[in-house]
Amino acid sequence: QVKCKIGPSILNADLADLSKESEKLLDSGADYLHLDVMDGHFVPNITFGHPVVKCLRSKIKEAFFETHMMVSKPDEWIVPMADASVDQYTFHVEASEDVAKTSRKIREAGMKVGIGIKPNTEVTVIDEYIELADMVLIMTVEPGFGGQKFMEKMLGKVRYLRENYPGLDIEVDGGVGLGTIDACAQAGANMIVSGSAVTSSDDPRKVIQQLRDSVNS
Ligand code: DX5
Ligand code: ZN
Repeated sequence: QVKCKIGPSILNADLADLSKESEKLLDSGADYLHLDVMDGHFVPNITFGHPVVKCLRSKIKEAFFETHMMVSKPDEWIVPMADASVDQYTFHVEASEDVAKTSRKIREAGMKVGIGIKPNTEVTVIDEYIELADMVLIMTVEPGFGGQKFMEKMLGKVRYLRENYPGLDIEVDGGVGLGTIDACAQAGANMIVSGSAVTSSDDPRKVIQQLRDSVNS
């Protein structure tokens, strides 16, 4: 089993206090931050965009920032997010008109490339782009909201990717907490997003540690 990194999602945290919440998660042992960007078109919800991410970066210099771009026009925000010093830009295969082109643009802008797929998208759509991706994100809920129920069936996609691409970074996102993380890691995921399980706890440090112990011991 590959070693897992834990990247909390701040979606259900106090977004009016984003920097404090982010610092708390990093101090609590988070390996990276998963920042959920929603545009109200690709998903029925709005969060924040590159101006907010840039302000957050000005306060938090060191951490690895992944932006999960739940937006209809992923190409539009590549340069602004690179300008905000984002480390990894994860977009959705369903949103891009030309996945190869979007991936190349992200690389040219100096960021790592994440390609995400929604629950109803076949995992095999990824095969032709695998050389261009640093990471593949398997959504384990319909994107749009935190706190939803984990879709166990999605683990088949994770297994498929791990079997075919042993060195690939594979992320799961949605409904992942203490009850579901083991199955994700066993299937082959090595980047674990956990939102409400971490941010709703009074003791995020303890939850992150428990998540880590559960998969990395
Ligand atoms: C859902 C987001 C997730 C979400 C995860 O659209 O992409 O990152 O915040 O939150 P939980 O872990 O609560 O499902
Ligand atoms: Zn997300």
